[in-house]
Amino acid sequence: MIKLAAMRAELVPALDSLLALKLRQDVPAADLQAAMTYSVMAGGKRIRPLLLLAVVQTFQADLIPQSLPAAAAIELIHTYSLIHDDLPAMDNDDLRRGHATNHKKFGEAMAILAGDGLQPLAFQWLSDCRFNDTIKIKLVHELAFGAGPLNMVAGQVADMQGEQRTLTLDELKALHQRKTGALLKASLLMGAVISGIDEKRTAALSDFADHLGLAFQIKDDILDVTSTAAQLGKPVHQDQAANKNTYPSLLGLDGARSALTAELDSARHALDPLVASTDISLLAEFLTELAN
Ligand code: IPE
Ligand code: IPE
Ligand code: MG
Ligand code: MG
Ligand code: MG
Repeated sequence: MIKLAAMRAELVPALDSLLALKLRQDVPAADLQAAMTYSVMAGGKRIRPLLLLAVVQTFQADLIPQSLPAAAAIELIHTYSLIHDDLPAMDNDDLRRGHATNHKKFGEAMAILAGDGLQPLAFQWLSDCRFNDTIKIKLVHELAFGAGPLNMVAGQVADMQGEQRTLTLDELKALHQRKTGALLKASLLMGAVISGIDEKRTAALSDFADHLGLAFQIKDDILDVTSTAAQLGKPVHQDQAANKNTYPSLLGLDGARSALTAELDSARHALDPLVASTDISLLAEFLTELAN
């Protein structure tokens, strides 16, 4: 199986070229194109597209080239969520992906509209991609379900309202699974849809996704306490300043680290049903990265 580093070296440049090209083609209004492109091309880690592509690589590697636009569509949704997350009415942040946030650069109204433009464009790309209609409808559903009011948006609401009170650990877990876990899960399940894997394998992947998604946000919470703005490309120590409920705020740093390890272990075990028939090493590498 290809290593994650090799996949990243090959596919991130391909994704970046596709994103830049398609934004140029599909957004003729110059100012809007500039604002949307600025944040999309500011240098994200592209984890969500890579998760989709890793599933395809694992189960149906010949479909990788065709999968790139679907993977890119997820990055549009993710980038919109970051632009809006950073707005003064939300987390009010000035730095994202190592650059001024979208509203700092283009003004609040244009930042809102750039996010508004990215959302439907993602679904346009999905509906235009080179899969049959049944697959395309399932891809649209997974992305809408993960990003929509049942999941990511509901999580953002809970995150915002949680600034007023201390959540229980169960409430925080549900919040994190919605605001961050669900889009990561959608990425993995979109890979499963493209690969055409059976229900049993999809169930294992779904279980893997639940734990990986939660682990990702626990890690994000930990890094807000322990890392630097230079390393993350976004401000640190913001969660405590905004009175956010986070794993470190509820459990302390050591408790948050233990919870991260536990989720990563559970994610690894979720793949057990696949091991006899499938090389899971590429998927497992995402867990190793989150552990470090
Ligand atoms: C940051 O996501 C926001 C969260 C959901 C935690 P990433 O850590 O994937 O950010 P980029 O895409 O690399 O900038
Ligand atoms: C962001 O969570 C989640 C979404 C954008 C949906 P955070 O607010 O913790 O993300 P960062 O730390 O600003 O990247
Ligand atoms: Mg936030
Ligand atoms: Mg934020
Ligand atoms: Mg954060």
